[in-house]
Amino acid sequence: MSTNETMINRYSRAFMNTFGPPQLALVRGEGTYVWDLDGRRYLDLLGGIAVNALGHAHPALVAAATNQVGTLGHISNFFTSPAQVELGEKIQDVFTQSGYAEPAKVFLTNSGTEAIEAALKLTRLHKPEGRVLALSHSFHGRTFGALTLTDKPAIKDQFAPLAGSVEFVEPSPEALDAAFAPGNVAAIFMEPIQGEVGVMPLPAGLLAHARRLCDDAGALLVIDEIQTGVGRTGQWLASAGVQADVVTLAKGLGGGFPIGACVGVGATGELFTPGSHGSTFAGNPVASAVALATLTEVEGLLGHVGTIGDWLISELSAAGYSVRGEGLLIGIAVSDGPAIRDRLLEQGIIVNAPNPTTIRLAPPLIITKADLAPFVTIMAEYAREFQES
Ligand SMILES: Cc1ncc(COP(=O)(O)O)c(C=O)c1O
Repeated sequence: MSTNETMINRYSRAFMNTFGPPQLALVRGEGTYVWDLDGRRYLDLLGGIAVNALGHAHPALVAAATNQVGTLGHISNFFTSPAQVELGEKIQDVFTQSGYAEPAKVFLTNSGTEAIEAALKLTRLHKPEGRVLALSHSFHGRTFGALTLTDKPAIKDQFAPLAGSVEFVEPSPEALDAAFAPGNVAAIFMEPIQGEVGVMPLPAGLLAHARRLCDDAGALLVIDEIQTGVGRTGQWLASAGVQADVVTLAKGLGGGFPIGACVGVGATGELFTPGSHGSTFAGNPVASAVALATLTEVEGLLGHVGTIGDWLISELSAAGYSVRGEGLLIGIAVSDGPAIRDRLLEQGIIVNAPNPTTIRLAPPLIITKADLAPFVTIMAEYAREFQES
């Protein structure tokens, strides 16, 4: 029995079976590569599901984490730290750079779903009896509030009754108009690219259309950038050009360290008052220091992400695939996603199949053409067998 198998068996005896058996037991990472217990190297084109923005063991993150944990590790939110304050200011800078004129105020969390919970609470404070809308096929997380906003019966129906009612709307201007028409809308939650359903970008102009409807209705536009934000699409925010009232971030924000943020713009950023929300760990100095280092490094990578993403999409398209996405969040339409994912893993390449007909790529933002070349070659070889018919 290989050491990978031994570890996976031990995992299965120790952990609840929420994720199914792990594909590999990984022990080490460097740049865009990881190694398993049997010493085999893999090209990581999933990046911990759009998380490892700087790849593995990036020196800036190693330094930030070790310096901070060796100085001041945890303090609770009765206190603050320079790392936390500098991170808050850097996130504000990201919003200023993204064209936000009104001040953005930050609530830090430990995960994406918690950032959504905070956004949902802001929605209640904004218009307590208002209707909450979300898009069909959305994914906003697994805690009860976020699950209520998620349109995926397979993961939510068994937990009914959920936390209130959310109305799901098809992502089209006509459907949004009809959903807003009866009035009393408190908020609409939207992902600029629906990642979990298979990297589905919203129709062009839909966010701007929603912005106008929200302005007319006095409703909050909540943009979930948990998967798309922090440079993933080659811009700080995939929703660039449209200003939200609330933006949620997580995944890439900590480059692999668990941290998220709910950012309220203008008056929305003033809705929480002392006692209305909280978290023991959120804003912890180590998480803050690592996120600050991540943002500092990602700033220098935004142009690279756009260029390499365009190149990768054009190579895959030239091989005959239909490709969706932007920057380094890419969905490839295939005839059998799980089969191609397993075949790629055998060849030492990690991707995932968020649905049966999509391969998703969300590699580290530092990835180069040289890293990607073997994947492009293999995908061209697979094209005839796996192109969607
Ligand atoms: C758009 C979006 N929102 C929310 C979440 C939930 O984030 P987390 O898994 O960190 O709770 C995810 C995770 O995949 C996501 O992609």
